[in-house]
Amino acid sequence: MPAKIIDGKRMALEILARLKRQIAPLSPKPCLAIVLVGDNPASVLYTQKKHEACKMVGMESRNIRLAASASQDEVVSAVRKLNADKGVHGILVQLPLPWHIDENAVLSEIAPEKDVDGFHPENMGRLALGLPCTAPCTPKGIVRMLKESGVRLEGKNAVVIGRSRIVGKPLALMLLNENCTVTVCHSKTRRLGEITKRADIVCVAVGKPNTLVGRMLKKGAVVVDAGTNRVGGRLVGDADFDSVAKKASLATPVPGGVGPMTIAMLIENALDCYRKITRRQ
Ligand code: GUN
Repeated sequence: MPAKIIDGKRMALEILARLKRQIAPLSPKPCLAIVLVGDNPASVLYTQKKHEACKMVGMESRNIRLAASASQDEVVSAVRKLNADKGVHGILVQLPLPWHIDENAVLSEIAPEKDVDGFHPENMGRLALGLPCTAPCTPKGIVRMLKESGVRLEGKNAVVIGRSRIVGKPLALMLLNENCTVTVCHSKTRRLGEITKRADIVCVAVGKPNTLVGRMLKKGAVVVDAGTNRVGGRLVGDADFDSVAKKASLATPVPGGVGPMTIAMLIENALDCYRKITRRQ
């Protein structure tokens, strides 16, 4: 039997509709500031989608654009200004930043209570310790999709391919917090197929098409594809969907899988930040 498809788009729309109802009575409205440095076409597109999602749910958003030539000090100053702005409840610095800017230096400047991405060391540290925190949007969306699809995580062998700040590392921690047995694979991993073949759940997030193919899977495995690659004008993931779908029991598509859930989790995180900040004031 071919794999069932996890419809991330439908799930995301349901979550956004619920968040819209929760935002409707709020005054002042939550406000998310999105900092974009440079004009990387993928980043321009992603940030546009984030602004559109804010609009859709009745959340305010601010668009802070800096030139690709902006210095690290200029980016840090922009973040500090947003930290001090009482009208801003969430801050997102779109990654990647231009090569001359130290991402850790910038992300460490975001006030942890406004850190909607959960990339600040305090939030990442809390995630590692299993303490309450703002969790990064993509892995949070992945875990939500798995649970909503009825996948029981406890005791499962989960393989995460990729070790990025945005997906792989936090996803491995979140799956560990859910009592999975987690293996993290990356570009230096040997015999990847032998490792994935033992997995009940395989998540791939490396930014390279065909990293995962059907013959690397155990029959009935669950596959989550967090890749977004443009191949000949078409959007494809990191998994070869056709061969994977023949072997897996459940799989996410690209597009329409992890991507929309990332945006829904961003809005959820931004509303959580707003609630924590306004409760304290
Ligand atoms: N670039 C790709 N994904 C993300 C994300 O989730 N957050 C940020 N800030 N940048 C990204």
